[in-house]
Amino acid sequence: MMNNMGGMAGMGGMSSAAAALAGLDRIGTGASLASLVKLTNTSQEAGVFRATLRAAPVSVGLMKDGTKTDVWAYNATLPGPLIEVMEGDTVEIEFINDLPQPSTIHWHGLPVPSDQDGNPHDAVVAGGRRLYRFTLPLDCAGTYWYHPHPHGFTAEQVSRGLAGLFIVRAKNDPLASIPERHVVFSDIKLNSDGRIADNDMNDVMNGREGQFVLVNAQFQPVMSFDARGRERWRIWNANSARYLRLNLPGAVFTLVGTDGGLLQSPVTGMTELLLAPAERVEVIVDAPANGGIVSLVTEPVERGKMGAFAPDQAITLMKVDFTNARPKGLVALPARLRRIDDLGPVKAQKRVVFSESMSMAGGMHSMKFLVNGKSFDMKRVDFVSNINEVEMWEIVNKSDMDHPFHIHGTQFQVIESEVDGKVTKGPYRAWRDMANVKSGEIVRLKMVQSQKGLRMFHCHILEHENAGMMGQVKVV
Ligand code: C2O
Ligand code: CU
Ligand code: CU
Repeated sequence: MMNNMGGMAGMGGMSSAAAALAGLDRIGTGASLASLVKLTNTSQEAGVFRATLRAAPVSVGLMKDGTKTDVWAYNATLPGPLIEVMEGDTVEIEFINDLPQPSTIHWHGLPVPSDQDGNPHDAVVAGGRRLYRFTLPLDCAGTYWYHPHPHGFTAEQVSRGLAGLFIVRAKNDPLASIPERHVVFSDIKLNSDGRIADNDMNDVMNGREGQFVLVNAQFQPVMSFDARGRERWRIWNANSARYLRLNLPGAVFTLVGTDGGLLQSPVTGMTELLLAPAERVEVIVDAPANGGIVSLVTEPVERGKMGAFAPDQAITLMKVDFTNARPKGLVALPARLRRIDDLGPVKAQKRVVFSESMSMAGGMHSMKFLVNGKSFDMKRVDFVSNINEVEMWEIVNKSDMDHPFHIHGTQFQVIESEVDGKVTKGPYRAWRDMANVKSGEIVRLKMVQSQKGLRMFHCHILEHENAGMMGQVKVV
């Protein structure tokens, strides 16, 4: 097994002779959509979730001709198993690193103590293990995920398959009676020999996009919609770099939640859902009156990609079979889902400028992705914040490409965005840990860090994070 992973050195850099990519007909389609594998709680104590996650190479059969693909996975499962807990629970995860590299587990979006959050500083060596332990506060119910965050290897480890799902449930969930569906998008780039492809120049510049956009690790599966005509979907964009603009012709989405859980009120009549990498949403999907089989597609997203590449096209992600779904007697959704207060007066400001620069160091043409003109340095603290103090973060994109901003340890509210001096207020109050910032745009976020320690913030196009677009804030 480890021998087969010999090509991995190419992942961080670029392949010299690009191998041919596998054609889209190499993976079978039309299987019925799988449910996520749940991580089993081995604890007998109420309020405690205890389990083991082992990251290791494993060989999987994605291709229909039987060619195997060596991936890296948590508990040999793609995507990684779903952890489901209640607000207020204590979580204890024993992490076993059987990868040939250091790794960590980062609990993306969750308010966990900084020393339990899988920071690059707390790497678990190859062959090592550690316990992650944290107690979740109340009012953090939402749709999260977990993935590695070791220094220099995050992008590679995620694109080899390491990413899992995390749902925190509320004791009183106003939408609990609606059947729930989990939809995880993760793209994978495969060569015709079935191996995970090396990065090419486009991947390094624009972020890596695999030609196969998988749904719950299946290629173009078919989902059979609930007979009662309504479902609640939790959607994860677990792609390294691919943006999603989801469209399900004939069906209408009602947005009810974002990264950090339910909105105050449902947002009705959405025909399209834009998800930046790492972003999550919760939507209510009502079956169209005339049923049938409808393709869920992602439309091209203009995000300022550089270089020479084939123009993006709409991609079919899965088929939704509404044949047996009868949207009868559906009751109106509650007008109020949850209370989200404004965070109050701002006590401090932070300004983050994203930029790119071309470098020819050592005769090698490469890109640098910078935060406030600097490349990430584990030993440098970029900002200091006071615990429990409301801050306004201004994220300025002075580069040519969109960059999805993410910060650890807290959820924020998008207050407004500005383009060419024109300010647009955030449309509704929501908790998020992802905010896309378009080229030339300024996005203003209000947030509070309520635990001390070091927190990372970065672009969540993982190849950009890897190339330096990350900083750290120390909460004191
Ligand atoms: Cu998904 Cu630093 O995070
Ligand atoms: Cu994170
Ligand atoms: Cu970026």
